[in-house]
Amino acid sequence: MNTSPFKFGVTVSEASFANRTREIQKLYENLTQGVNTAIISPRRWGKSSLVEKVIQEIRQKEKGIKITVIDLFSATNEEEFLELFARESIKASSGKWEEWMQSGKRFFKQLVPKFSVGIDPATDFSVSFDWSELKKHQDEILNLPEKMAAQKKVKFIVCLDEFQNLASYPDYEKLEKKMRSVWQRQKHVTYCLYGSKRHMMTDLFNSPSKPFYRFGDILPLDKIATEHWVAFIRENFSKTGKSIDDKAAEMIPFMMKNHSWYVQQLAHYTWQLTAKKASRREVEKALEELIHTNIPFYQKEIERLSATQLNLLKAIQAGEYKLTASAVMQTYRLGTPRNVSKNKTKLINADIIHDVQGKFEFLDPAFEKWFLKQYHNKSFYY
Ligand SMILES: Nc1ncnc2c1ncn2[C@@H]1O[C@H](COP(=O)(O)OP(=O)(O)O)[C@@H](O)[C@H]1O
Ligand SMILES: [Mg+2]
Repeated sequence: MNTSPFKFGVTVSEASFANRTREIQKLYENLTQGVNTAIISPRRWGKSSLVEKVIQEIRQKEKGIKITVIDLFSATNEEEFLELFARESIKASSGKWEEWMQSGKRFFKQLVPKFSVGIDPATDFSVSFDWSELKKHQDEILNLPEKMAAQKKVKFIVCLDEFQNLASYPDYEKLEKKMRSVWQRQKHVTYCLYGSKRHMMTDLFNSPSKPFYRFGDILPLDKIATEHWVAFIRENFSKTGKSIDDKAAEMIPFMMKNHSWYVQQLAHYTWQLTAKKASRREVEKALEELIHTNIPFYQKEIERLSATQLNLLKAIQAGEYKLTASAVMQTYRLGTPRNVSKNKTKLINADIIHDVQGKFEFLDPAFEKWFLKQYHNKSFYY
């Protein structure tokens, strides 16, 4: 049996990658020409995949550029972030792990790095510092890529994924100022910063009072358009000896509102349920399966909400957008205008809704379908 051509839950950059031609070109140009870039979109739309794709192209075509991709997801405080930043920068500077240790002597003046190397240095190499020293000499770490690049006469691209994570550190504002002031002066390093808390990310880069204001270009990542999804789905069915009729191929992005992760997931289930040719029936069955597997998450999500938050979600679901109009507040029992505004913020911060030109939408299209059935008893295929 064939394996499914549709992938979700991992970054996709080769076989399972759809379109994004314009964004690829733009990001490629920016990063190779020294333009710092921030990419912003809700989670699971494709930021990490896009960066991975572009990085692969740069690696193939531009030999004089060293690249590091650092995922800040697991760095829970400033010290961990700085250690991670140091380790990954050192690793990116050379293909030989013996050289990594020498960097320690050459590039640090104040700090004394402790290296540890396991059986496989490529995956098991770490750098640690005395944490009280680390805080005093952040510059030394933040400047590491620049120093290494200058010495080796190469350029560096540093990609920081889940950048908004930094904002949860206690001393974040100081760190933010420091990063900007150090990075701004660097001549050989270009930064690509991306994350999914849109309000926080936009605020970070667009607000004149913040250090990262005008640090570089902002690339808001949109959803992939229907025509590209349809072509992608058809192509991948036919590549694996199956086919899908036009209606069914259009239904998949339509049902999932073009959400990258979910389009892949629904296409995957449809593909699995198809012997030869997929039609509407397979997509409908696949959708039921998809929602079914996700129910435990959705229930948990709902359990975390208060009564007025849940009511607000129902109002949004019904298409209301004047949420503080008294008729709306009464019909849906939303509480006071203050409740509404607090609850709105809560739902946004929890990644449940986002605002699209003054209106609110569910971020998760499958959750929305489940919600609709749960609270309005509507079918999944409305
Ligand atoms: N260009 C793309 N083509 C096809 N599928 C994609 C694309 N970008 C993202 N996806 C799908 O969406 C999922 C989430 O993508 P990811 O890059 O991890 O998003 P983000 O970093 O924004 O959270 C992937 O696992 C994949 O299934
Ligand atoms: Mg990501």
